[in-house]
Amino acid sequence: MNRNLILAFETSCDETSVAVIENGDKILSNIVATQIKSHQRFGGVVPEVASRHHIEQITGCIDDALTKANVSYDDLTAVAVTYGPGLVGALLIGVTAAKAVAWAHNLPLIPVNHIAGHIYGARLVKPIEFPAMALVVSGGHTELVYMKEENSFEIIGETRDDAAGEAYDKVGRVLSINYPAGKEVDELAHKGNDTFNFPRAMDQDDNFDFSFSGLKSAFINTVHHADQIHESLSREDLAASFQQSVVDVLADKTVRALHEYPVKQLILAGGVAANRGIRERLTDELAKFSNTELVLVPLSLCGDNAAMIGAAGEMLYRHSISSDATLNADPSLDFDWIGEA
Ligand code: KG4
Ligand code: ZN
Repeated sequence: MNRNLILAFETSCDETSVAVIENGDKILSNIVATQIKSHQRFGGVVPEVASRHHIEQITGCIDDALTKANVSYDDLTAVAVTYGPGLVGALLIGVTAAKAVAWAHNLPLIPVNHIAGHIYGARLVKPIEFPAMALVVSGGHTELVYMKEENSFEIIGETRDDAAGEAYDKVGRVLSINYPAGKEVDELAHKGNDTFNFPRAMDQDDNFDFSFSGLKSAFINTVHHADQIHESLSREDLAASFQQSVVDVLADKTVRALHEYPVKQLILAGGVAANRGIRERLTDELAKFSNTELVLVPLSLCGDNAAMIGAAGEMLYRHSISSDATLNADPSLDFDWIGEA
């Protein structure tokens, strides 16, 4: 097999990342420059600040990715880039850099959907077997995606309001935890118990959609009410109760989806896939499915990174999907993109 090398870019939010991926599933380098510190004092990602950081970081990340992979531009097969969904100004930096490299070195330019990237990041662990299902849980997305075959994506359920990670970040703020709060809320949750019994929205509904804004409001109201009457609540129990509610809904809906859509693999993807509670619960639930394997990506690949974009990009390259220099960032890109680029 020829050595196929993809230089991949990811700048959709607050990580500037460039990777070199060999044959779609081997990471030669995966440079991630995080901007979290710059956004923390604002309590969330400030789009303009994110764009400026990407501009400062991108060329250094390209150099580092090539050096670490021990390859030169001449060795590359193609360039892959996230072009949506995400923050438009942030996406534009990656898209422009990728276009420049593709043009200067006469390489194919492969446009990648960020969510497809999170899902195909599973390739970096083991080959994806179809049909497959992905539960994508991140700061911007909560979706159940059914994949009949390679390069096919059907969203069978999604959040009607907040994404799971967004809810984590918002309740974390009420507990005075810095952005992004998911990891710390997860850690606190493991030290407490579900004593508050927060709502499990839409859990029993006959669909695969999610809703987290009612849970977030119930949490915030509980904390504010306690503040007003000078009652102190256990942070651990609050976190544990919140997490149990999120995990119950995510797991119950996913299990129902697996009964309706029998698949060979369930892929847990996105930043919230790092959550210990959901990893443990899905591991338990999947033990009851003899024909469905759970694929968990390592924590280092759950958050945004360019390696996953390279993994998806190589698959698209094999499907002859590429773009020309008119490629633009699409902040609200959905899965209709396939084949349209
Ligand atoms: O995929 P990602 O890096 O960026 C987006 O595309 O959104 O996801 C970031 C999100 C943040 O909301 C963060 O709080 C959440 O993932 N997160 C977690 C955990 N680690 C990160 N949420 C729950 N538990 C965790 N352990
Ligand atoms: Zn993401």
